[in-house]
Amino acid sequence: MCDLSNKRNSYSLSGKTALVTGAGRGIGQAISVVLAGAGADLALCDLEKSWLDETAELVRGAGRRAECFAMNVADWQSVSSGVESVIGTMGRIDVLVNNAGITKDSLLVRMTEEAWDEVLSVNLKGTFAVTRAVAKHMMKQKSGAIVNIASIIGLIGNFGQCNYAASKGGVIAFTKSAARELASRNVRVNEIAPGFIETRMTGQLTEDVRSRMLEAIPMKKFGTPQNVAEVVLFLACEASAYMTGQVLTVSGGMVM
Ligand SMILES: NC(=O)c1ccc[n+]([C@@H]2O[C@H](COP(=O)([O-])OP(=O)(O)OC[C@H]3O[C@@H](n4cnc5c(N)ncnc54)[C@H](O)[C@@H]3O)[C@@H](O)[C@H]2O)c1
Repeated sequence: MCDLSNKRNSYSLSGKTALVTGAGRGIGQAISVVLAGAGADLALCDLEKSWLDETAELVRGAGRRAECFAMNVADWQSVSSGVESVIGTMGRIDVLVNNAGITKDSLLVRMTEEAWDEVLSVNLKGTFAVTRAVAKHMMKQKSGAIVNIASIIGLIGNFGQCNYAASKGGVIAFTKSAARELASRNVRVNEIAPGFIETRMTGQLTEDVRSRMLEAIPMKKFGTPQNVAEVVLFLACEASAYMTGQVLTVSGGMVM
């Protein structure tokens, strides 16, 4: 039977704790603030604890608890001790958002081994490492929602981004496999593939590249971190209770 009483807010994260990686700025900051607005307490993670001050202030401004943790997602030891500290401090993790990510662009024939390894380590291995550490707790809890931030580049590829595309395509495949493994424990794993979102990552592009990208976007505008964060909330809460292993693109129609 459909519950039409409308008394239950399925977009609420009241009483839940969310861990967001790369929460210091850009999309990670917006995600943290939107989840706090829905009632979640936040475990904020980034390379340096002090980079999280601004996000923590915004989360506390929304009336929620914010605790900051230094965690390098590309470093196995840093992830396992970081997740243990989060559990020790917050008591539980209900929502994990694997948002930390980097680019190191160059054309294929000029791409160095370091540029390949660095991007794959942060974007793909980092997503695996944090998910592995958090999934153990969620499986014991018999509940959890994991949202991975991939990219449309992982679906369609891009000039100068072989490493980034491979890492994000890997995140998409990883998400589907993890979703299959964790589904019976009531842990859902989904992902978002954002298109062109206005942040520091895209701020480095030349005007020429920006105007060419704009041409390719049916909605004729770039996205905002808030646009991505609202969809993260949907995948993190009860509103998407029967969804797992899905990739949602947030790209103004650039990928359909
Ligand atoms: N901006 C876009 O247009 C766009 C599009 C598609 C996907 N994305 C993805 O969204 C996510 C966030 O991107 P953004 O634009 O906000 O980038 P950003 O560079 O503004 O922020 C990235 C955050 O991740 C942190 N970080 C980097 N390496 C880390 C590591 N090893 N361990 C922990 N934290 C680390 C940074 O310190 C920073 O706070 C990334 O995964 C990115 O690939 C962005």
